[in-house]
Amino acid sequence: MSTAPDIKPSAFIGRPQSRIDGPLKVCGRATYTSDVDLPGMLYAVPVGSTIASGRITSLEFAAAQAMPGVKLILHRGNIGRFYRIAGNSIDTGFVDENRPPFEDDIIRYYGQYVALVVAETFEAASAAAAAIKVGYDKTPHDVSTTLEPDGKLETQSERGDPDKAFDDAPVKIDETYVTPVETHNPIELHATIAHWNGESYTFYETSQAVANHQGTMMQMMGLPKEKVRVISRYLGSGFGGKLWMWPHSLLAAAATRQLERPVKLVLSRKMMFQNVGHRPTTQQRVRLAATEDGKLVSLQHDFVNHEAIADDYTEDCGEATPSMYSTPNLRVTGGTVKRNVGSPTSMRGPGAVPGLFALESGMDELAIALKIDPVELRLRNEPEVDESSGLPFSSRHFVECLKTGAEKFGWSKRTPEVGSMKRDGLTLGWGMGACSWPGLRFSAEATVDLRADGTARVVCGTQDIGTGTYTILAQLVAEHTGIALDKIEVGLGDTSLPLGPVSGGSAATASVIPAVSDAVREAIKTLLARAAKIEGSPFKGAKAEELAMSGGHVHRKNEPPESGVPFARILDAAKLHAASGSGSAKGGFDDPLKKKWSIHSYGAHFAEVTWDPATARLRVSRVVTVIDGGKILNPRAGRNQIEGAVVMGVGMALFEHTVYDERSGAPINSSLADYVVATNADTPKMDVTFLDYPDTVFNELGARGIAEIGLAGIAAAITSAVYHATGVRVRKLPVMIEDLLKA
Ligand code: MOS
Repeated sequence: MSTAPDIKPSAFIGRPQSRIDGPLKVCGRATYTSDVDLPGMLYAVPVGSTIASGRITSLEFAAAQAMPGVKLILHRGNIGRFYRIAGNSIDTGFVDENRPPFEDDIIRYYGQYVALVVAETFEAASAAAAAIKVGYDKTPHDVSTTLEPDGKLETQSERGDPDKAFDDAPVKIDETYVTPVETHNPIELHATIAHWNGESYTFYETSQAVANHQGTMMQMMGLPKEKVRVISRYLGSGFGGKLWMWPHSLLAAAATRQLERPVKLVLSRKMMFQNVGHRPTTQQRVRLAATEDGKLVSLQHDFVNHEAIADDYTEDCGEATPSMYSTPNLRVTGGTVKRNVGSPTSMRGPGAVPGLFALESGMDELAIALKIDPVELRLRNEPEVDESSGLPFSSRHFVECLKTGAEKFGWSKRTPEVGSMKRDGLTLGWGMGACSWPGLRFSAEATVDLRADGTARVVCGTQDIGTGTYTILAQLVAEHTGIALDKIEVGLGDTSLPLGPVSGGSAATASVIPAVSDAVREAIKTLLARAAKIEGSPFKGAKAEELAMSGGHVHRKNEPPESGVPFARILDAAKLHAASGSGSAKGGFDDPLKKKWSIHSYGAHFAEVTWDPATARLRVSRVVTVIDGGKILNPRAGRNQIEGAVVMGVGMALFEHTVYDERSGAPINSSLADYVVATNADTPKMDVTFLDYPDTVFNELGARGIAEIGLAGIAAAITSAVYHATGVRVRKLPVMIEDLLKA
């Protein structure tokens, strides 16, 4: 059905490549932050507040200080000076918790750091931390997850007269959807190894953004750039929780500043629930109205999320809403409510993931009210342009996502009546949901060396968070040069390398493409210029423009690569260690391209659940996903991303839910035993399709980024399937067994 876009045959781009860092990981040779072991290293353990609101009145640490191995106890009185950052900017420094640790005696959330113990061993530090006695003057806290909008909702997008159109419409729905607090649970705990050697700092960090971490650390410690190096070679994922610096990094920095010995600080899983962000709870009212034949006439989406007492955080639930469907009348509003919790932060697909749970659930409910098939309802409301801005879409194939997904899933066999489909004694539920994520790109620089030993090296100060960035960089160099992947060394995750983008916003691949491509082209140009000039080159006397590099060879353009010589031969003859090139590209949230184009990825999920009413047993059995994410550079890593997101979506729909204890204000299910995530046993049969249309407005290869989109819309597809099976519409995630007992 798809008209295949005309792409030149490629040896490396668009091919399913195994990760080049895979062998290191399976052999245990990839050094993660907490594996770093420096000579003379000390261990730090923070002490967290046991109240959620109030003031510290006393801190007794004499006994802890006297315990064996204890080197230092840091508290407000002796930690030294920190500064705040000048303004949240992705280029120079961004944090979600602005207050440096110990800045005042006020406690605003449970677990807020009040002291730090540094000792010769982790055990000694833990024992001393437990021996510190903190006195508090407690005041009432609020960790309630019911959010009363306080009337201060800000309009984010508006067109037409949505109120009047809603009132006048024949068919409408008006429902409120709630998503819970979710906590990032990467297997790798947050960790910092800080080392001040009397001159400068080195930080080994679990960071999705070493450049940002450096910028933040410089400002908060008051140091020039050359004194702060941040390294993050491998990351055991982050899901957004490791995008920005959190206060524990500053605690480690302060400790090594005083002791001049390396200090290792690894958070506990419990602290991960308190101190390093979470997806906030959201409450979203969706009002949709349509004509009898299913044309949307009014769309209203009003969301609130909780945020911390001292910090601002908006979960941008309405980001996708204004451009998703055609409607003349629309309003999106957003607001926040303060709670005594650590600051929320980005969590995989921030905004779009909870936002599209609400919007897509609403679309399903509207389809039922209209008695129109939910796929058909979306097809009838496909916009020609982005109606929020009037801008053309750079590349939108949402209709094809819907049609391809419906065909692969067998959607035409669906009977709409609740509980009408059966298999093997179980009731089947079939539901679908759409997804979207903005195309983003950030500033990037890269250098490429083509080396005399026949290898190449490419470096960029971005990170690989486990998703395949090492491999993508190698593929890019291989594509231009024909050098085999195993002869390409990739360097990432170090601020001493050229500036790299955050590994966030699904933006890393699109950000590095122009920088790496320009760098490799420049390196090749240098090489060919030598080939045309130097003594000992078979091409001496030729024009550089008549030469090319491919298949790892330098050759005449009009002749095949084998006719030429391996590129190393030219470097050898020229007595050069390497032919090098560098490239750079600008990007950011204010990308000028966004003034001309609406740039988004799109997709559709189709989910099947099985329901056994006798035992109230619900399973997600099958998911078909179709993604329009631009050109897919590595379909194997790409499919992994979407499959991972679908599994995470099963968790979002059915399990994930951070619970705060109303009495203490603490997140109480703060362990992997009590915070339930989807596991292998919960994994449905998955079928992922990429449409693979290059978005060449966005970059020369047309890749947009595909990390986060897979988690958007999947929860709505599952709850719509649950409705189809059981007749129970769950509007508050996760689906609980109590909800289903109403069936
Ligand atoms: Mo993602 S939430 O931008 O790591």
